[in-house]
Amino acid sequence: MPRITLSVIKADVGSFVGHSCVHPELLDTAKEYLADKGKGRLIDYLVTHVGDDMELIMTHGRGTDNEEIHGLAWNAFMQATYAARKLKLYGAGQDLLADSFSGNIKGMGPGVAEMEFEERPAEPVVVFMADKTDPGAWNLPLYKIFADPFNTAGLIIDPKMHQGFDFEVHDLIDHKKIVFHCPEELYDMLVFIGATGRYCIKSVYSRTLKEIAATSSTQRLNLMAGRYVGKDDPVCIVRCQSGMPAVGEVLEPFTRPHLVAGWMRGSHYGPLMPCSVNHSTPTRFDGPPRVVALGFQLCQGKLIGPQDFFADQAYDRARQQANKIADYMRSLGPFEPHRLGLDELEYTTMPQVMDKLSGRFEPVE
Ligand code: F6R
Ligand code: MG
Ligand code: MG
Repeated sequence: MPRITLSVIKADVGSFVGHSCVHPELLDTAKEYLADKGKGRLIDYLVTHVGDDMELIMTHGRGTDNEEIHGLAWNAFMQATYAARKLKLYGAGQDLLADSFSGNIKGMGPGVAEMEFEERPAEPVVVFMADKTDPGAWNLPLYKIFADPFNTAGLIIDPKMHQGFDFEVHDLIDHKKIVFHCPEELYDMLVFIGATGRYCIKSVYSRTLKEIAATSSTQRLNLMAGRYVGKDDPVCIVRCQSGMPAVGEVLEPFTRPHLVAGWMRGSHYGPLMPCSVNHSTPTRFDGPPRVVALGFQLCQGKLIGPQDFFADQAYDRARQQANKIADYMRSLGPFEPHRLGLDELEYTTMPQVMDKLSGRFEPVE
């Protein structure tokens, strides 16, 4: 069987209105571009969005970090940027940090999650896409999916899962990585992945199947740009069934919205609300942060789908709970823990205010 690469590459290249959605003309522009220039390169593709982020879901046979595929995505985003400029959309081209493409789209602004594998006789995958949050948002659900037997029954009763999973965790500040073998190293791993602003689960591997099971985008846009550009709005791919977690086990963590960093001005904690593509339009206080889950069956690399999982009424209660949590968090206004701590704030006027008041600070007796 030939190996298939699934590449999910995303960027915010202009939104309407404000930072809430991607204009249909931008989606059409990227679709037309991939339909034309993807010929002979891509097996299949889907152009979609979550909130103001355009998502290119692509399959091909060229492996991860492939220059041609990354170049194709970059140029699709450029074309969409031209369309956004014509419509005077907000933040046109905001996530494209370079003037021209230079070999690998990682480090140039867009977020990337890619995995290469031999397609199984049936290959169900879920692509998660989030808006108004950062890559640390995946730590808790990935932990639950692949390490928590209260979430994933297969960890106990599926012989192909009982041995557990290996987690590759990245330190996004020191640019280091480590692999934790779970379940035996769970407690060590939790020391790190509980700190979601710094340590992120990059990939997960099945110890029995010796196969990649999940991978996420870990690009931190503002660390790359050195200034506030927008939140990272990460993506994550999870393979399901037959020794991987069942689709229902993969979706289960999102029934209880957890608090993630992002929301208004990338500077507030708020609940991650599961929703359909059509409802992924952050409005209230530019949020609350959203997550969409699209399911596909791969068929020789063709994307059979999508199945828009969180459109299901089974997630209505999670949405209500997210709204309740949002009410509570909003009631704290500019106070922590709604507002992020000083070292995590994406926007801050602290240096200017400190400058202005510096002469008035006196030693405390
Ligand atoms: C968060 C986000 C928005 C903006 C906010 C202010 O990721 O995109 O909450 O930060 O709307 O936007 P600017 O600074 O562009 O006016
Ligand atoms: Mg935006
Ligand atoms: Mg966004």
